[in-house]
Amino acid sequence: MEPSPGRPGLEATRPHMEPRASCPAAAPLLERQFHVLVGVTGSVAALKLPLLVSRLLDIPGLEVAVVTTERAKHFYSPQDVPVTLYSDADEWEMWKRRSDPVLHIDLRRWADLMLVAPLDANTLGKVASGICDNLLTCVIRAWDRSKPLLFCPAMNTTMWEHPITAQQVWGPWLRWAPLWTK
Ligand SMILES: Cc1cc2nc3c(=O)[nH]c(=O)nc-3n(C[C@H](O)[C@H](O)[C@H](O)COP(=O)(O)O)c2cc1C
Repeated sequence: MEPSPGRPGLEATRPHMEPRASCPAAAPLLERQFHVLVGVTGSVAALKLPLLVSRLLDIPGLEVAVVTTERAKHFYSPQDVPVTLYSDADEWEMWKRRSDPVLHIDLRRWADLMLVAPLDANTLGKVASGICDNLLTCVIRAWDRSKPLLFCPAMNTTMWEHPITAQQVWGPWLRWAPLWTK
């Protein structure tokens, strides 16, 4: 992903993330920003990503980054999102040899809280069954479960009311907080 004005590229972000990954105790929470990682999937509600990010940035003390699926990219313009955006290509471009960092692990270390908004039916199904075939689902699969992980489902009523949805939502390991639905 190319850096753009107002949105640091991966190289700009890495020095910020690495010390926390190697020495978590070195940065007590009170002395640094609280890190919120927003996950966005291919629901039409992803139109609201720029609004969501700008509202989060209004909260003092928050630092925000976004992980997007490829389908979600259809619904917003990257230039409208004033924080670093990560997608699948970044994960694979970053890792060339054994000494290189693994982006989904760095992101889950960096984040104090993850908010998946919107969570579409497809990614819900994948997460509920443990599938991790893109950057977003790898972060979720590798999540440190001592930290909050919030999901905000967004799908049409028929999909939402299908019995499979309830099974997936109330699955054994999801910590569920439906903050934002269509
Ligand atoms: C215009 C449009 C709007 C969509 N809105 C939703 C939605 O609100 N909720 C949903 O679950 N799927 C929605 N979909 C379907 C998802 O985009 C599709 O399942 C996609 O494969 C999801 O990929 P992802 O989970 O990797 O982002 C929509 C598709 C289109 C074309």
